[in-house]
Amino acid sequence: MAEGTASVKVYRGLRDIYFDRSRCTYIDGRAGDLRYRGYSIHDLAEHATFEETAWLLLHGDLPTRTALAEFDRKLKLARTLPPAIYDIIRLTKSGHPMDVLRTATSALASFDPDTADNSRPATLRKAVRLISQVPMIIAAHARMRQDQAPVPPARDLGHAANFLWMLKAEKPDDEAARLVDRDLVLHAEHGSNASSFTARVVTGTNANLHAAITAAIAALSGPAHGGAAEDVMKMAEEIGDPSRAGEYVRERRKAGDPVTGFGHRVYRVEDPRARHMRSGVERLSKEMGQPRWYEILQAVVQAMAPYARHGVNVNVDFYSGVVYYLLGIPRDLFVPIFAIGRVPGWVVQVLEQQENNILIRPLTLYDGPPGRTFIPIQQRPE
Ligand SMILES: CC(C)(COP(=O)(O)OP(=O)(O)OC[C@H]1O[C@@H](n2cnc3c(N)ncnc32)[C@H](O)[C@@H]1OP(=O)(O)O)[C@@H](O)C(=O)NCCC(=O)NCCS
Repeated sequence: MAEGTASVKVYRGLRDIYFDRSRCTYIDGRAGDLRYRGYSIHDLAEHATFEETAWLLLHGDLPTRTALAEFDRKLKLARTLPPAIYDIIRLTKSGHPMDVLRTATSALASFDPDTADNSRPATLRKAVRLISQVPMIIAAHARMRQDQAPVPPARDLGHAANFLWMLKAEKPDDEAARLVDRDLVLHAEHGSNASSFTARVVTGTNANLHAAITAAIAALSGPAHGGAAEDVMKMAEEIGDPSRAGEYVRERRKAGDPVTGFGHRVYRVEDPRARHMRSGVERLSKEMGQPRWYEILQAVVQAMAPYARHGVNVNVDFYSGVVYYLLGIPRDLFVPIFAIGRVPGWVVQVLEQQENNILIRPLTLYDGPPGRTFIPIQQRPE
């Protein structure tokens, strides 16, 4: 250990460290309480649309009917991508949708009229465009990788319904659109999670919004963060039958592997967002004559009950992947859908960081060899 550092406490993973203040999202991990701008996630999930929630996050209050209509109009007008972005998607179409999304979002910086302007009004204008463009990239890629033409956006549909329309070229039924809309509300913001923290670190250097969102997408793609929804569906398929859930959990734990869709850095009780997706899985799997999926998930929850006592509970992604699967959405689009929901949350984090900006630059405690004498290459052994 380096001299004089024995008493330094290292907070690996920055666990339990407050690095700033925020007026946006309240999370009580012990009580399982989550609020956006003071409003309970349960009220928002039941009563607010994604558009309303995005406005609330960006502006701090619930919109009036006029403000919401104007915001909705702007979002619909922003449903457009430069032709070069379609070329980039075509060139990279063999990649994972998150990699394509990251690359195309980064490239949008070259076409946005406000890219270099980090003022609040410009960041809000870019936010509207990115909220509308992110689902367009994901849907266009999903079509183009199957050698199908992208579906032009429908200006008469809301955000969630339009995404489903661009993905499948069919008008979605109200129930499917409502479930995806609810999922986007649940994923819209979550304090200082890994991707939002990444966005803040990038913003701390005075880089622009496109840079911050591109980096946030990169952070979200990992299985410890957004990737979980994709992995839960893999797990459900691997288990195959509720009777095998116990054995699956025992084997994972014996190998020291986490069970996907469980555990959270902040929550010590069930993630408050999970129940809204659980009811979706229950209803959809019965309606579609595939009750097995709900039964498998509930059997996994039962098998994980001993861990719940130690604070390892179901998180939001445990149920959302199965909802998407039942809606006929390919598995590798589950994380990109999380990204669609999270754009407003990332923007809020960027706005707060910009308001009172500071370079985020923590320290690592040196644990390597002491000072050594440099030996020129000619004097070192072969
Ligand atoms: C999300 C996650 C990365 C949080 O990690 P973390 O805050 O660093 O939590 P830790 O890894 O310190 O876990 C604390 C304890 O709970 C256990 N634990 C955490 N997640 C677990 C899981 N999914 N399954 C089984 N045990 C788990 C750990 O083994 C550890 O036990 P120990 O203290 O006996 O070693 C982790 O829970 C995980 O990998 N979950 C699965 C992936 C997932 O669902 N991610 C989506 C999050 S929204």
